[in-house]
Amino acid sequence: MPRRPLVAANWKMNGLKASTGELEKIIAGAENLADVELMVCPPATLLASFAAAARGSRVAIGGQDCHAQASGAYTGDISAEMLKDAGATAVIVGHSERRRYHGETDAAVREKALAARRAGLVAIVCIGETHAERDGGRTREIVRTQLDGSLPDGAADFVVAYEPVWAIGSGVTPTPDDVADIHGFIRDRLTARYGEAGRGARILYGGSVNAANAKRLLTIENVDGALVGGASLKADEFLAIAGAYGARWSAISLS
Ligand code: 13P
Repeated sequence: MPRRPLVAANWKMNGLKASTGELEKIIAGAENLADVELMVCPPATLLASFAAAARGSRVAIGGQDCHAQASGAYTGDISAEMLKDAGATAVIVGHSERRRYHGETDAAVREKALAARRAGLVAIVCIGETHAERDGGRTREIVRTQLDGSLPDGAADFVVAYEPVWAIGSGVTPTPDDVADIHGFIRDRLTARYGEAGRGARILYGGSVNAANAKRLLTIENVDGALVGGASLKADEFLAIAGAYGARWSAISLS
């Protein structure tokens, strides 16, 4: 089952109205990247205006988190339905920064993934081990536990993002062999649980992806795209990363 690559920008808590120019550049560049789906996940304040700017383009807009409930007395929270209403088609759930700073458990992440499904959004479910867990030889155990606990049953209608916590924002990445090994392991878990449908679910890699390492990290079997943090804030670099999938853009050098 061919899986179309997805390269998604997670802007985290970055971006003001003045950043709209970067989105516009991404929208323009996307025209040269027919082989890859592009997504930008801006902070919630920019979601509606970004969705309006991207309407009819090849760039999808996603949220960075959602509440499990559709509405209610949850001050400061945003529901999946609200993201959908603002123009999002997807939402990141269970990012390690949410797990770490907001105490989100696998069960909470699963509820959010179910909320995304209820609202008609694609959930991008993040998993990944910490440095200590890796050093302790527990990577597979952690990944298995997080997959089992965070993914909803039923359809394999989500995207999995494997983001080793120690690789996020550090400039350090796993070796291609390590990426191949863990993505293969994730694929096996998906097919064991969802059958053939588990072959269709995309598994993204995230953690210090940049224009220089994209081709090496993203063209590995069972790596179906990337979730990009820091390097996604500049349109040129983000587009160059997406160019790892062999589109015309890769012929254009970074200035
Ligand atoms: P960096 O690309 O900045 O390492 O962040 C990765 C990430 O957390 C994307 O969700």
